[in-house]
Amino acid sequence: MIAREQIRSRFKELYGEVPTLISKSPGRINIIGEHTDYNEGFVLPTAIDKAVYVALQKRDDNEIHLFAEDFNERFEIELDNVAPTDRGWPNYILGVVHQLRERGYSLSGFNLYIDGDIPVGAGLSSSAAVECATAFGLNELFGFGIDRVSIAKIGQLAEHTYAGVMCGIMDQFASVLSKENHVVRLDCRDLTYTYVPLELGDYEIVLLNTNVKHSLASSAYNDRRNSCEKAVSLVKSKNPDVKSLRDVSPAMLDEMVKGVDSDSYVKARFVIEENERLARACEEMSKGDIPAMGKQMFRAHEGLSKEYEVSCAELDFLVDHAKAFEEVVGARMMGGGFGGCTINIVKKGFGQQLVDSLSPAYKEKFNLELTAIFVKTDNGSELVY
Ligand code: GLA
Repeated sequence: MIAREQIRSRFKELYGEVPTLISKSPGRINIIGEHTDYNEGFVLPTAIDKAVYVALQKRDDNEIHLFAEDFNERFEIELDNVAPTDRGWPNYILGVVHQLRERGYSLSGFNLYIDGDIPVGAGLSSSAAVECATAFGLNELFGFGIDRVSIAKIGQLAEHTYAGVMCGIMDQFASVLSKENHVVRLDCRDLTYTYVPLELGDYEIVLLNTNVKHSLASSAYNDRRNSCEKAVSLVKSKNPDVKSLRDVSPAMLDEMVKGVDSDSYVKARFVIEENERLARACEEMSKGDIPAMGKQMFRAHEGLSKEYEVSCAELDFLVDHAKAFEEVVGARMMGGGFGGCTINIVKKGFGQQLVDSLSPAYKEKFNLELTAIFVKTDNGSELVY
């Protein structure tokens, strides 16, 4: 958590006055349901107590002035010239501005300061948090009256158009709509959702950060999405009503995809099964059977690694080695893949021991530090000032 006083005084140093408001949007974890969101399936995420903070103030002209604390960098642009830039970080903010204007909202210039404590590249959706904190903050600053679900959609489209990742809705939805001590069981087809109490009994969540940055991740992500769409179009040729993998049964895949495109077949089958695993995991959690829920997570990792092929040696190592401890009842890679974190369900108090036990061998094999991230659940976007 970053103190709002610190943000206010940095804003004042940079822009001469205190900000009008500060919005906060958190990062997220996801218990199970990976690569299902863009296939109109289910996900089970929630916000964490690490967030992005955006401080804002209107200007009298049409200029947008940005400052990112993490990079110690400024960026300035005229509202009418907003376009993707090769500078990187401003895109997540400018993409939101572009989306708002596309929808007919009229903005003036503004000063923006951004800071946060979500580790970047750890698969905790820091980019979605930037988009959502920006959209949530601008909505308040200009009084647009945009609802939360639309804010999440604006964030998602900013990612598509300005960051080039054809992501699903999970990260932005979790960042804006989560509720403390609950996970969101979200149906990505129609965006209906329920808050499920996150009750882990004698267990707790610990994230293990591979500290591998996913450089190939965005192109591989878009490739996976294409494979799923390919499978849908093959099934569609005989079943015109099918719109997404949500409508596809394993039997349809066997009949219409298996012999034609074996890669799309394996990818699509993973997605269908991942939705089933999520449903079972929810049932088991509601019965208080956390070890049974954890088994679904182990199985999900196997699928993500060998079938969907979005894991990497470091993630596989962490899951394989964590599995050897009886105190670890579930573990899998989390998020898009190719780096970032594993999510582990461990006996309360065992988290630190797990990291200490795995670190030396991890360092020896990959020459990388292994870091633990302990998280609490949190609410979605809010104003903190
Ligand atoms: C990334 C995307 C999400 C989702 C996950 C995989 O985090 O932004 O939309 O697809 O990967 O589940």
